[in-house]
Order: sequence, then structure tokens, then C-alpha cells
Amino acid sequence: MEIKFDSVTKNYGPISAIKDLSFTVTQGDFVFITGPSGSGKSTIIKLILNQIKPSSGQILVNNHSPKTQLEIDQNRRKIGVIFQDFQMITDLTIEENIALNLDIVDFENDQRPLAIDTALKKMKLQNRRFLFPSQLSGGELQRACLARAIAISPQLILADEPTGNLDPINAWNLIKYLKQENEKRGTTIIMTTHHLDIVKSLNKKVIKLIKDN
Ligand SMILES: Nc1ncnc2c1ncn2[C@@H]1O[C@H](COP(=O)(O)OP(=O)(O)OP(=O)(O)O)[C@@H](O)[C@H]1O
Ligand SMILES: [Mg+2]
Repeated sequence: MEIKFDSVTKNYGPISAIKDLSFTVTQGDFVFITGPSGSGKSTIIKLILNQIKPSSGQILVNNHSPKTQLEIDQNRRKIGVIFQDFQMITDLTIEENIALNLDIVDFENDQRPLAIDTALKKMKLQNRRFLFPSQLSGGELQRACLARAIAISPQLILADEPTGNLDPINAWNLIKYLKQENEKRGTTIIMTTHHLDIVKSLNKKVIKLIKDN
């Protein structure tokens, strides 16, 4: 999935979150977004997810600006998302959390069990599937979030500070799995991060934001 920002500006009332930003993320890219707190990283993620609209400029998905709700929904179904704070439903098991997400994106009914099994297996969580989020370690929980994201066979994974709450070993482990999805399946990855050591050593494209107010 290709994402293109064309002179995008986002203001929240008097607050300017991003200003005249242009970039292209090509199908199969692994791209980092870095920048200080408040520089607009999460704003970019929310814009791509269509949770918020740009104040001006255009966001193109595969060279097309989605106009109708149907187009927006169709794009949304191809995007897997993971967040720093996990955002798992606490009273559902890991397997049920993944199943709920498949339900939300209207995933082919008869393929759901295999999609869940495959995702759990890839993330080495088969024997944690019946546990609740609070029963997993931080590293396992973030892997469960990635399992939930990849179960829908996304064309794009958006990861907003996914390693923020992980120790270095688990952070690198998560990066390993993201790289695997990128290299083996060609999934486009856009990841925001403060961890400059990770950014440096991966040698991928970087969108560096600055905070100008
Ligand atoms: N709903 C909102 N209403 C008003 N201002 C907002 C809103 N959301 C974000 N902002 C402002 O927009 C700017 C960019 O916020 P954003 O969350 O995108 O930054 P960030 O780079 O993700 O920061 P962090 O590294 O701390 O997560 C900040 O100054 C923030 O206060
Ligand atoms: Mg943020």
C-alpha cells in the first residue's frame, strides 16, 4: 500500500501539529518517523487512519484520495495497527482480541481460525492464546498486538511507538518480527519511535519531524 502526503497541514484550533508536510511511502517500504514529543508523529498515524482530517493538503492511498465512507472503510481493512499502550480489551483473551479485530474488518468467516493460528504461531504465542492481556509479560503483550495486526493480512502496518514500553531485548525482538513481515510478505511498515539506536542500525528511510513552536 502506497501512502503519499502532499503538502499536508494539520491544525488543532490554534495549535499547529504538522505544517506543509510531503512524503511518499512506497509499497514494501519500512519507514521510521522520528521527532521530539509534540512534533506530530501520532498525528500522522491518525491522518493515515482517517481518524482525523487534514486542515489542508491531500493524503493519497495508492495514488487516490479516498472520498466516500466505503473507500475509507476498504482502506482501513488493509491496515494493521499497533500502539505503545497495547490497546487490548482486558476482559477478552488474546485469541478473542484477535478474533474481534477480524470481525471488525469483516475478515472472511471460514478463514478466521487459520488466520488466528498462523498469527499466534508466527509470534510464538500458541500456548498463551487463552490468557488475558493482564497475564502476559510486556514483550508477549506487544507480540500479541502484532499478532492481532497481522492476522488480518494487512498491506500496511502502522506502529506508533510500539517499543516505548519494552526493555531493549523485547524491543529488538519486536523489530525482528516487523522486519520479518516486511521482508517475507512485502507488508509496508510505518513506525514512529524515539529509539534512535533502532533507527540507526536498521538503515531504512526516515521521516524526521521538527517541532517549530
Ligand atoms: N486533539 C488535540 N487537540 C489539540 N491539540 C492536539 C490534539 N492532538 C494533538 N495535539 C497537539 O498537536 C501536537 C502534535 O501531537 P502528536 O500527538 O502528534 O505528537 P507526537 O509527535 O506523537 O508526540 P509524542 O512523542 O509525545 O507522542 C502537540 O503539540 C499536541 O499537543
Ligand atoms: Mg505520539
